Amino acid sequence: MIRTIEWTDEGVVMIDQRLLPTEEVYPVFSTYREVAEAIREMVVRGAPAIGVAAAMGVALGMRDFPGEDPGAFDAEFELVSRTLAETRPTAVNLFWAIERMRTLCQRLRGEGVSLGDIRQRLIDEAKEMHAEDIAANRALGGHGAGLIPDGATVLTHCNAGALATAGYGTALGVIRAAAESGKRIAVFADETRPFLQGARLTAWELHHDGIPVTLITDNMAGYFMQRGEIGCVIVGADRIAANGDAANKIGTYSVAVLAHENGIPFYVAAPTSTLDLTMESGEEIPIEERNRREVTHIRDVAIAPEGIAIANPAFDVTPHRYITAIITERGVARPPFTESLRRLTGQQD
Ligand code: MRU
Repeated sequence: MIRTIEWTDEGVVMIDQRLLPTEEVYPVFSTYREVAEAIREMVVRGAPAIGVAAAMGVALGMRDFPGEDPGAFDAEFELVSRTLAETRPTAVNLFWAIERMRTLCQRLRGEGVSLGDIRQRLIDEAKEMHAEDIAANRALGGHGAGLIPDGATVLTHCNAGALATAGYGTALGVIRAAAESGKRIAVFADETRPFLQGARLTAWELHHDGIPVTLITDNMAGYFMQRGEIGCVIVGADRIAANGDAANKIGTYSVAVLAHENGIPFYVAAPTSTLDLTMESGEEIPIEERNRREVTHIRDVAIAPEGIAIANPAFDVTPHRYITAIITERGVARPPFTESLRRLTGQQD
């Protein structure tokens, strides 16, 4: 079992994903500011994992706030949440998790619960979110496994595995569940430039679990699809709008268009905490622009001329028309997503 993130009394323990696959190191992040920095610098990454990290960051920040004045406690809560919310803009799970912590805190404050008890309840809530995320991934894995035929080769992009969640994974959760049900599954993993989540993390994770994986560079996906070697595509998501448009790692859109062109099913696997039904379409989803160095360097080696212009959007949006189905822990949503997603979340008009 891969240990992505854990609460301990000393702080939040996270595997440093920047160092994989060459080093497996588990540092402790002992203040909320350290947790925020770990999210920003991608020690921890992947939408559900950063949601859990943010919740634990809030719990840590409030546990360690020494004041006993309720007004100061509330002000600190806002500072801690804002610091964590300002780390990365695209994955909605981050904001969903902070909001859930805020709702709990405000309710308990309204009920007159002591600040000491509130501190403990926030820790319990963050741990609960960790457990719920693993349960959601196992449930969505179960729903999705039936969609993958025995003997299929599945292409995935980025890392939507145990490392991107509290455990088990979303896209890789579906693959794991299919493999656990006895199906023979092979995976093609896109390397996923520029941060190489596919090469460094997905390949490491699947290899660790004994699931056959072939690593390809991003520009090889069309070649294998055209040759009939890919049975389906499964990816994760960072935010899914009400119409089913899905933001995910940069390059996902290109994979979806290629899958469509080649008549290959394209599935998005995500927990309902990744849905943002307040956004009508993907056009509203904020796209993070990351540091130019991720493009100009690999590790510390320059691969581009100094001073060259760089663009580095970390995500793109796959229009819903390219998505065959969205697999969640509550079941599988099919087009038209505006209706099926609302039905799944019980938000009928
Ligand atoms: O920049 P990252 O590594 O945080 O991006 C991760 C992805 O795009 C994942 O596919 C997505 O968060 C789903 S993880 C279950």
